[in-house]
Amino acid sequence: MRFDIVTLFPAIFDGYLTQSLLEKAIAKGLVEIHRHNLRDWAADTPHRKVDDRPFGGGPGMLLQVDVTVPCVEDIERMAQTPARKILLTPQGKRFDQRMAEDLATSDRVMLLCGRYEGFDQRVVDLLEPEEVSVGDFVLNGGEVAAMTIIDGVVRLLPGVLGDENSHVDDSFSRGNRLLEFPQYTRPRDFRGHGVPDVLLGGNHEAIAAWRAEQSRIRTKQRRSDLFDEEE
Ligand code: ADE
Repeated sequence: MRFDIVTLFPAIFDGYLTQSLLEKAIAKGLVEIHRHNLRDWAADTPHRKVDDRPFGGGPGMLLQVDVTVPCVEDIERMAQTPARKILLTPQGKRFDQRMAEDLATSDRVMLLCGRYEGFDQRVVDLLEPEEVSVGDFVLNGGEVAAMTIIDGVVRLLPGVLGDENSHVDDSFSRGNRLLEFPQYTRPRDFRGHGVPDVLLGGNHEAIAAWRAEQSRIRTKQRRSDLFDEEE
């Protein structure tokens, strides 16, 4: 799977792309991540301007359509596969596990990271990207949101997680749209806090039933809204 990231701050991704899971997925050839600096598409003037003040007034600066659209068109042509285009914005559709599962079926995704007050509306009108938000809060730009999406998607690609770390039971996942059950490891006792007996008994049916029940209890207490979304 190929990701193309459009950003004014490509270096924000340095640490993230060189950490364990992403680094391994890239080394194994399961994912390619290409960063593109929007400023490289700015007019060849000393300031290489990419933003300007909003017509009608108001605070902040907008990323310009005449820089962004040619940038995206050039990047699109850098590979044969058409890219599914995503523009990160707090006004977008909320990213969730279902969207991650859906994106993981794409061969190529382009992520457009805004800064300042975002993009000129004509970027959206002309390129028709999917507008996606990672939550009801405002970040300083789309970069952390783009990393969130890459992180959620890449771990779903076959071969990225070992079998022993299968994501099927994860909270919100295909195998379990509810919250995950509690888990325990050694020691069996810590400061008088033990481990539920059922987990120590080796009865796999009983363990599965206990986990399913815990999953439902937790979801009811913390996120009862998830019951309405169950398939
Ligand atoms: N850019 C700024 N805030 C954002 C958010 N919540 N989601 C996606 N992109 C953003």
